Amino acid sequence: MSTTYTLDTKTDRAHPTPKPMKRLTVPAIRGRKTDGESGEPLVMLTAYTVRTAQLLDPHCDMLLVGDSLGQVIYGLDSTIPVSLDMMIAHGSAVVRGSYHSLVIVDMPFGSYEQSPDHAIRSATRVMKETGAAAIKMEGGEAMAETVAFLSQRGIPVMGHVGLTPQAVNVLGGHKVQGRDEATAAKVLADAKAIDEAGAFSIVIEGVIEPIAIETTRAVSCPTIGIGASAACDGQVLVTEDMLGMFDRVPRFVKKYDDMAAQVTQAVERYAAEVRSRAFPEEAQTYQPKK
Ligand code: KIV
Repeated sequence: MSTTYTLDTKTDRAHPTPKPMKRLTVPAIRGRKTDGESGEPLVMLTAYTVRTAQLLDPHCDMLLVGDSLGQVIYGLDSTIPVSLDMMIAHGSAVVRGSYHSLVIVDMPFGSYEQSPDHAIRSATRVMKETGAAAIKMEGGEAMAETVAFLSQRGIPVMGHVGLTPQAVNVLGGHKVQGRDEATAAKVLADAKAIDEAGAFSIVIEGVIEPIAIETTRAVSCPTIGIGASAACDGQVLVTEDMLGMFDRVPRFVKKYDDMAAQVTQAVERYAAEVRSRAFPEEAQTYQPKK
């Protein structure tokens, strides 16, 4: 066997055809808001798999590999059991399936909270093993030191305040935040703290609209709303929710399709055709070559 190898330097290995668009960068997203003003709202959706990423990519600015994959893909009760390995497996699939959107991978519960050192070890794995350009982490004032630590060491951080699902046991459920003075003040203080620490963008989830608007005005980086306000600098939804894959979704979800009904119809037709031997037809069978 030959032991001589030729290094393949053809550029089309790195730039497949059809020629993809240039991927959006963290400074490009951050730069969409200057002096408190943002133009066209940023579009973000969740993606966990390569094919979904391929379909969403041309229409989005950002793809979030959210730890919501715990419920959506794995049928878990909450995001708490999601592991770093799960996030890395799905994160790398989404990077492989996209060329245009900035890909952000969620840091799962237990992978970053202990200390900046703990966070950078986990975040470094995410960046090296997925190829994603940024990570997202929940928490505000308590995480500000970590946000600064990572941002200053080459790891862009998207923050997440308000209804933070990893804190479900502290919040006592998936409760809308900002209805009382204490939680309203906390949302604002949390967002300001991580903005000042260097977060390039902040998700505001499950917050009453006036507080979401006040928070968006109070921070310099773009806010991405989910159950917040159209006045946020961008919006995100869980893709499977907005496609209508689930019957029960939070009030803030708008269903843009009824994929559950479409899948059910297709599978019903398939099952009927298998049982009646109508499938496979001639077009789907192989015959000996003449
Ligand atoms: O995990 C997730 O999908 C999220 C978004 C809903 C913001 O954090």
